[in-house]
Amino acid sequence: MKVLRSGWLRWLVIVLALLLFAFLLFLVWAHRPPIAEITPPPRTAFAAAEIRRGENLARIGNCVSCHQSAHGRPFAGGYGVQSPFGTIYGTNITPDAQTGIGRWSLEAFTRSMREGVSRDGRHLYPAFPYTHYTLVSDADLRALYAYFMTRDPVRAEAPVNELPLPLKFRPFIAGWKLLFFEPDRFRRDPDQSAEWNRGAYLGEGLAHCSACHSPRNWLGAEQRSEAYNGGWSAGWYAPPLNETSPAVRAWTARRLQSYLRTGLSVHHAAAAGPMGPVTHNLARADEADVRALSSYYAWWMRDAPASNREPPLADRSETARRAHPAGAALFAGACATCHEPGATMMALGGRPALPLGSPLHERHPHDTIQIILNGLQPPVDEAGPFMPAYRDILTDRQVAQLVAYLRTRYGSGPEWPDLVEEVTEARENSAP
Ligand code: HEC
Ligand code: HEC
Ligand code: HEC
Repeated sequence: MKVLRSGWLRWLVIVLALLLFAFLLFLVWAHRPPIAEITPPPRTAFAAAEIRRGENLARIGNCVSCHQSAHGRPFAGGYGVQSPFGTIYGTNITPDAQTGIGRWSLEAFTRSMREGVSRDGRHLYPAFPYTHYTLVSDADLRALYAYFMTRDPVRAEAPVNELPLPLKFRPFIAGWKLLFFEPDRFRRDPDQSAEWNRGAYLGEGLAHCSACHSPRNWLGAEQRSEAYNGGWSAGWYAPPLNETSPAVRAWTARRLQSYLRTGLSVHHAAAAGPMGPVTHNLARADEADVRALSSYYAWWMRDAPASNREPPLADRSETARRAHPAGAALFAGACATCHEPGATMMALGGRPALPLGSPLHERHPHDTIQIILNGLQPPVDEAGPFMPAYRDILTDRQVAQLVAYLRTRYGSGPEWPDLVEEVTEARENSAP
């Protein structure tokens, strides 16, 4: 081996060998063993009360939102969770023996919820919010397991994730976990009430509210130091739930309770976008649990501006008309029948006026744009009125004109910049 004796080539070989060795060490370290398959347990293996408890917990955990596709069966998977890196699909968590979790033991289920590791040992992407589910108690995991193992099995394979090549390599997730994740358990705060602690346990754990309502770093990890400072979900802005809440009316526990259980707070607005399904699930969850969540988040927002002073409602209709005449004309034609003061929807239907909702007071225009482009589903158990989608009726420029007009007329904060580009982007990213 003459070449090896001379100069840089030898060093190159040594460095490559070291790198290979380090990579092998990494693979060994990242490895998780599979947990043995079991024969699918019969329904009778689970007590009815346990299953009912699990059902409530599944609603609080919002499991169905990510584990059901638009036209699919509940929990059969196929919903694409959007991340800045690509789309990751919720898998089939019905007890189908081949494509679901029918052959999973309680131990395998528990490991996946607490450590983000699949039964076969694969690391799972944190699009599955195990960074929160890790807080769930043993008893609650048992109840969830009982609930899922007694659903109707559905044979369905989740679509392949759409990720760039290096991120498809799951052992890298172990590196992410090393940086940003530690399996943990909920710890009570003895200085707070039992209800507060119940709300904290559910909110920080199963309900994973901060997964949407907190900012994330460039590697997609929640920034705990900025908890509840506002975050993103599927092109929607989830506004802050802390002292920076933009709401113009205080979020008291009672108002939160009605918002979370009906999808509408008459002192604020309707729950739109990804918040809609959250409220549809909480509507059928245990009332005391939702009350606990409400008092916990009212506590988070106790120092928000509106909690101290509820300002009079703005209506700068003249100023707004002069600044944005095109937007004013569009509003009069397309929106006033429902939203102008005195409209039947508000006068008789008791729906909140536009300036009460947070979207027009937020740092970002995304929620207002999304609502206009895509409309709103009716709140829980309400036949209507509901807001139609304007994506096929208005151009990007028209939506931008409307948004600018509404911000000036009813909103607060500086004008939003680059509205036309924002609308174009929102339209592309939320194509039905
Ligand atoms: C925000 C979306 C989201 C929510 C909410 C969610 N999941 Fe998931 N879940 C996912 C995604 C995405 C995956 C697949 C991750 C992957 O492929 O790495 C997954 C995977 C899983 C797995 C592993 C399945 C397997 O085959 O490896 C289990 C078990 C699971 N979820 C259970 C639940 C339960 C129980 C709930 C409710 C308490 C829940 N999930 C709520 C997104 C979600
Ligand atoms: C899947 C993402 C997601 C999850 C999970 C989620 N939210 Fe939201 N939430 C949003 C989005 C997006 C909005 C803004 C929608 C709108 O304008 O109506 C929102 C709006 C809200 C609002 C209205 C704030 C305001 O000032 O208008 C409250 C309150 C709220 N969420 C509380 C919660 C609580 C409590 C939980 C946990 C039980 C939760 N959210 C879980 C996405 C989410
Ligand atoms: C058929 C009645 C109807 C029409 C027409 C309508 N909306 Fe709505 N809109 C609603 C309902 C219902 C809600 C949900 C209740 C609420 O939040 O006040 C809503 C909510 C909103 C919200 C979010 C709530 C808030 O306070 O921020 C905005 C923004 C909005 N509409 C803008 C518009 C614009 C702009 C137009 C015209 C392009 C329009 N709407 C046309 C019924 C309507």
